Amino acid sequence: QQLGLIDRFGRVATDLRISLIDKCNLRCTYCMPADGMAWLPKDKLMRADEIQRLVRIGVRDLGVRELRLTGGEPLVRVDLVDIIAGIRDEHPDLPISMTTNAVGLEKKAEALAHAGLSRINVSLDTLHAQTFKQLARRDRLEGTLAGIAAADAAGLTPLKINAVLMRGVNDDQAPELLDWSLRRGYELRFIEQMPLDADHGWRKDNMVTSAEIRASLDNEFILTQDPRARDGAPAERFQVARRTAPGHLAGTVGIIASVTEPFCTDCRRTRITAEGRIMACLFSRTETDLMDLLRADASDAEIAERWRGAMWGKPRAHGMGHPGLGDDDFVQPDRTMSAIGG
Ligand code: GTP
Ligand code: 5AD
Ligand code: SF4
Repeated sequence: QQLGLIDRFGRVATDLRISLIDKCNLRCTYCMPADGMAWLPKDKLMRADEIQRLVRIGVRDLGVRELRLTGGEPLVRVDLVDIIAGIRDEHPDLPISMTTNAVGLEKKAEALAHAGLSRINVSLDTLHAQTFKQLARRDRLEGTLAGIAAADAAGLTPLKINAVLMRGVNDDQAPELLDWSLRRGYELRFIEQMPLDADHGWRKDNMVTSAEIRASLDNEFILTQDPRARDGAPAERFQVARRTAPGHLAGTVGIIASVTEPFCTDCRRTRITAEGRIMACLFSRTETDLMDLLRADASDAEIAERWRGAMWGKPRAHGMGHPGLGDDDFVQPDRTMSAIGG
């Protein structure tokens, strides 16, 4: 009889997020510094066989039911196709998704789909080259758009688009992003920026909130609560109609309101960093190393036991200002988003 990844608050983690690499080909301001990141040396990254082993333990012994691959940027990992093929070979029915900026995906989408990747979420905060360059500090909008088109053609669907809105940068572009996504059948999600930037420049009162995002869409779109069950997902979904055709369902949009409407009480996620450490929560300040066990001939049972222990200690919530969720104890973690994987 096996226990799953249960914590003290009764939550059960069934969604595993594994970061494959800390490097990225962009430098989004809300996620990474402009320069000066100390990359993990290659021998500190989990190897493909180590990742495959952790997925095996997670699925077989710990109740993991879904896998998401993240980075940094997972496409930067040279053996990405092999990693996916290896996992897929062992787990024919496991949903395997990936969160990516899609730069360089144009050439790889077909191979990734063939290897067994189920679907992708793409970060796309703007449709303007100039804004893209300002936000991502790289001029790669065309690469991202080409990658999205290729992923769509390769069947890596339902395709979701993630947009973080930054005040004074792209917060006027929400309707345009939604129009673009609806036309293509992609599910756009607007994300409240979380304090995981390198410069610790995040201020709650300067964050573009879920309420503001909805207000900015209101001129052109009608949003109504999606009746489908949320199932612990970060995104609250809405059905969308255009004001020009109010009776016609144009698609859905999501809002990920991590700060103003935290969803920690329903959290089902367990995370492993690229160097093989368990992060029970995105905002964990303690991390639990599995790499030492992986490289010291430990048994699967020992690894499972340590993983369980780490999740038992999962914090109740991130504490970013919500009554009853630990308002006062929020401290920004040292890791930037890029070193956690989102
Ligand atoms: P699907 O809905 O299954 O496609 O995935 P997802 O939305 O969970 O994954 P994705 O990697 O696209 O993440 C979208 C946004 O949600 C990112 O900004 C994540 O950091 C955020 N997010 C994902 N999981 C959590 C979480 O556990 N806590 C918080 N606060 N944010 C999360
Ligand atoms: N706050 C919220 N979302 C973020 N992401 C990256 N950094 C942040 C942040 N500080 C998003 C990216 C990507 C996903 C993994 O996380 O847009 O889509
Ligand atoms: Fe889960 Fe932590 Fe995210 Fe809250 S902040 S939803 S507890 S991972």
